[in-house]
Amino acid sequence: MDLQIKSFADYQKTYQYSVEKPEEFWAGVADHFYWRRKWNKVLDWNFKDPKIKWFEGGRLNITENCLDRHIYKLGDKPAIIWEPNDPNEAHRVLTYKQLLEKVEQFANVLKNNGIRKGDRVCIYLPMVPELAIAVLACARIGAIHSVVFGGFSAQSIADRINDADCRLVITSDGSFRGTKTIELKSIVDDALVQCKSVERVIVLTRTRTPVSMIKGRDVWWEDEITKVETQGNPACPAEEMDAEDMLFILYTSGSTGKPKGVVHTCGGYMVYTGYTFANVFQYQPSEVYFCTADIGWITGHSYIVYGPLSQGATSLMFEGVPTWPDAGRLWDIVEKHKVNILYTAPTAIRSLMAAGDSFVDNKDLSSITKLGSVGEPINEEAWHWYDEKIGKGNAPIADTWWQTENGGILISPIAGITPTIPGYAMLPLPGIQPALFDEQGNEIEGNGVSGNLCMKFPWPGMLRTTYGDHERCRQTYFATYENMYFTGDGCLRDENGYYRITGRVDDVLNVSGHRIGTAEVENAINMHSDVVESAVVGYPHAVKGQGIYAFVIAGNHHTDENLTRQDINKTVSRIIGAIAKPDKIQFVSGLPKTRSGKIMRRILRKIAEGEVSNLGDTTTLLDPAVVEEIKAGAEQLRG
Ligand code: PRX
Repeated sequence: MDLQIKSFADYQKTYQYSVEKPEEFWAGVADHFYWRRKWNKVLDWNFKDPKIKWFEGGRLNITENCLDRHIYKLGDKPAIIWEPNDPNEAHRVLTYKQLLEKVEQFANVLKNNGIRKGDRVCIYLPMVPELAIAVLACARIGAIHSVVFGGFSAQSIADRINDADCRLVITSDGSFRGTKTIELKSIVDDALVQCKSVERVIVLTRTRTPVSMIKGRDVWWEDEITKVETQGNPACPAEEMDAEDMLFILYTSGSTGKPKGVVHTCGGYMVYTGYTFANVFQYQPSEVYFCTADIGWITGHSYIVYGPLSQGATSLMFEGVPTWPDAGRLWDIVEKHKVNILYTAPTAIRSLMAAGDSFVDNKDLSSITKLGSVGEPINEEAWHWYDEKIGKGNAPIADTWWQTENGGILISPIAGITPTIPGYAMLPLPGIQPALFDEQGNEIEGNGVSGNLCMKFPWPGMLRTTYGDHERCRQTYFATYENMYFTGDGCLRDENGYYRITGRVDDVLNVSGHRIGTAEVENAINMHSDVVESAVVGYPHAVKGQGIYAFVIAGNHHTDENLTRQDINKTVSRIIGAIAKPDKIQFVSGLPKTRSGKIMRRILRKIAEGEVSNLGDTTTLLDPAVVEEIKAGAEQLRG
């Protein structure tokens, strides 16, 4: 069996086979990877507990698949091209040989600092090659990485470190984002006041911002590398892992206040990310592939690091932001490195589109052959702009739908092979069996229907548990519909059987492609001393997709409402991070609640969206008058 699908007929045949004989199919895919020992059983599962085990008894190390096995043929091929924040700083290229060397070196640093198989390591780094190196070094020795996105606050880091009981943190003095310098080490220092489990902090030099290095706890990355060099033996053999050993934890928001640690395991995740990368992007050996995500999110884990590297691809990493020094930066990078495949998010596309065509029209984008979109629904206007301005009408767009919990892409066009329609994720990849359900728990069959999107059958890349709380995993994903994985997304299946994701059906927002729980934002707002109660909903935002709208009952608040708004924003930044700051804060004297005290979010959502003419039934409200007041206030806020 070939790894890559070659034609639409091939897709149809492969899909059919993957559904009829899933175990045979996935064994065939897994045969394309390097296993120290083959599995005894392809799949053992039930969605009730849930129990999901792929390739049981198989032994491997994912870094041998991402690095060692390529060295003979691709040793001198660029594995990572790194483009810095500042275009005047030199870019860096790491060949497969060099990357392996650096990963082994840093794996030895981790060992020298007491890290062993099974230990949890928190990584809080900017988008520099050392982030990929740190991730792979953990995987090399079987340590479990928990990468925290550089935009999260000290409190968020502390919560994640404590939940996973991390022994070590890897960070840098600071990070560059456009014209800003963010003091990462100082944020980590604030976090560690609350973290008893951390024994060691390794600090990379990036911005040369002054940092406080605490004796006995903090060490410099560069010094530790020198130590390894003087020890003489730079090699670090890969730890042999079981297919179902944990590879990493990645925290993601849900409808409750506390983010959960999604757990992915070594074997299935490797097979799934490698397979989907090779297929969706139809990667060809000489191509340069550029994913603009941050490794702090799942897209970066799966489609900057593990997926591309397991396929021997050249993966371009970018430290900065798409709009600095100007809105042509991504196109400059494409031109400079002759990027063939570009994978980005609708938010970035919309903001670059809004900046005007002058930033793109004079750039040479002729190297582009395939495009991808991820993280949120893409509106038709942005899709067409991406198609015409960036792909010049010749590059198929893969609108890839998936989630942190999925490990890799589930529903998406296969570039150049399966059809595309603007705004549609189209068809499930082989092995993926979507199903739509109504609120009553009945499956909605046939075409031309909408419902809640579920998956009937496991795939190798799916989450196994939520760290330290298996019951929460069951409740969140497997309890809504019997024997189904529930995605939390609404979905349309059109007359032709093509899928279009319509957005979340739970209380989770998607802001600039980042998932944020409304309860989490409310908890943060409520931490502010003047706040009595709050309710957060999403509203359509021209660039971010969704904006955050907060209705707040403030007690004794400052006479200047704008100052109170700023105070609330500051509080949210401190508790979660700047990404969760509300775009709009409306002060209200009460919230629309049912007699049993439940906030009627449906009403608030409509008000936030500006759709006040039809609020539906408000007679069950405890105090219907409050709705009129909120409506008037919203009108005023819109100005
Ligand atoms: O609502 C869907 C939306 O993003 C959610 C998953 O968020 P996260 O785990 O942060 O992962 C984002 C990157 C994989 C989904 O439940 N979403 C993701 N991709 C798409 C999408 N919505 C529409 N179209 C997409 N292509």
